[in-house]
Amino acid sequence: MIVENNVPLQPYNSFGIVARAQNLVRIANEADVAELRADPRWRDAPRFVLGGGSNIVLTGDVKPLVLKVEIKGLRLVEETPRAWIVEAGAGEIWHDAVQWMLAHGYPGLENLALIPGTVGGAPVQNIGAYGVELQDRFDSLDAIDLDTGRSFTLDAAQCAFGYRDSVFKHVRSGPNDFGLSGRALITRVRFRLPKPWKAVVGYLDLERKMDETGNFTPSATDVFDWICAIRRAKLPDWRVLGNAGSFFKNPTVTPEQCADIIARDPKIVHYPMADGTIKLAAGWLIDACGWKGKSVGNAGVYERQALVLVNRGGLENPVTGGEVMTLAKAIQTSVYERFGIRLEPEPVVV
Ligand code: EPU
Repeated sequence: MIVENNVPLQPYNSFGIVARAQNLVRIANEADVAELRADPRWRDAPRFVLGGGSNIVLTGDVKPLVLKVEIKGLRLVEETPRAWIVEAGAGEIWHDAVQWMLAHGYPGLENLALIPGTVGGAPVQNIGAYGVELQDRFDSLDAIDLDTGRSFTLDAAQCAFGYRDSVFKHVRSGPNDFGLSGRALITRVRFRLPKPWKAVVGYLDLERKMDETGNFTPSATDVFDWICAIRRAKLPDWRVLGNAGSFFKNPTVTPEQCADIIARDPKIVHYPMADGTIKLAAGWLIDACGWKGKSVGNAGVYERQALVLVNRGGLENPVTGGEVMTLAKAIQTSVYERFGIRLEPEPVVV
């Protein structure tokens, strides 16, 4: 185990923001965490767990010890008549893991293809796209409590998944509170992929693909290819144009609030939810306020999807975390002034 000093973080965040970690250690397995905890210099040091860096905004150098999770491994752990259970190391690249499962005959994650980041980050924000959320394919995960060094396993209920939310996003605030933010390091995730496989193609963009191709009984590989094509057409590749995916969550409102907005803006994109609330498309709200294609310094609003903020300066003259947050605040203010809705950022601001 080597603790590196003054490590550039630009390659490790998908915005391409320049920042440094004062100290960084790469975690390749559980023993590395044990070694770190055995070292009195680091045992009680503040720390920050870094996965793929695809959902963070770095606003300065990172003072806490950065634990960069690089735990690898992909394997089928169990096959039952009703499911394949596949385990992946938290440091595996998410998209590569999806592809590996598909290639080995364990479909089920294809709707989540091309989402940036690592396997370990997926449960933290309960990633979701095109009609599937991680929680729909989740079995359990292993993690280490960095305070005590103990390993533990959580099932889906214990992860308390919500829309882009989980127990890993919450800070423990009392003895009965189970918030694990800053405390847990996820080491391995197991997926439960239902058998027989069934395509999830209810999302409008996928229905369009079926109409276009005349293929109404797509295979998992067809769905995978469609998802890749849809995402490539709509979302920027962070390796070409730095970004952190959707910058805001889609807000929910009451039916009364929604009726009020529809009266003023009949075109607003809204979806009724199972619990009676209405989800609004944040991208539409931002677009309606005229933000698409606009910039503040090197922070920009993507031309094809207003929900995505991008780094317009590339790697040479990159956006700063401050510019991203200034643009985000300006967007929040104008959406609030026009619609009375407070947009909540999705990425973690460090
Ligand atoms: N829209 C606009 N203008 C825009 C952007 C969107 O009018 O600039 C409208 C679209 O026309 C569409 C609606 O808003 O009617 C929704 O847009 P889209 O289908 O692109 O989905 P989204 O709600 O913007 C969510 C997720 C994405 C996920 C897609 C597909 C969130 C915050 N975002 O986006 O997730 O890929 O659905 O399922 O829930 C991410 O979390 O990083 C992410 C990319």
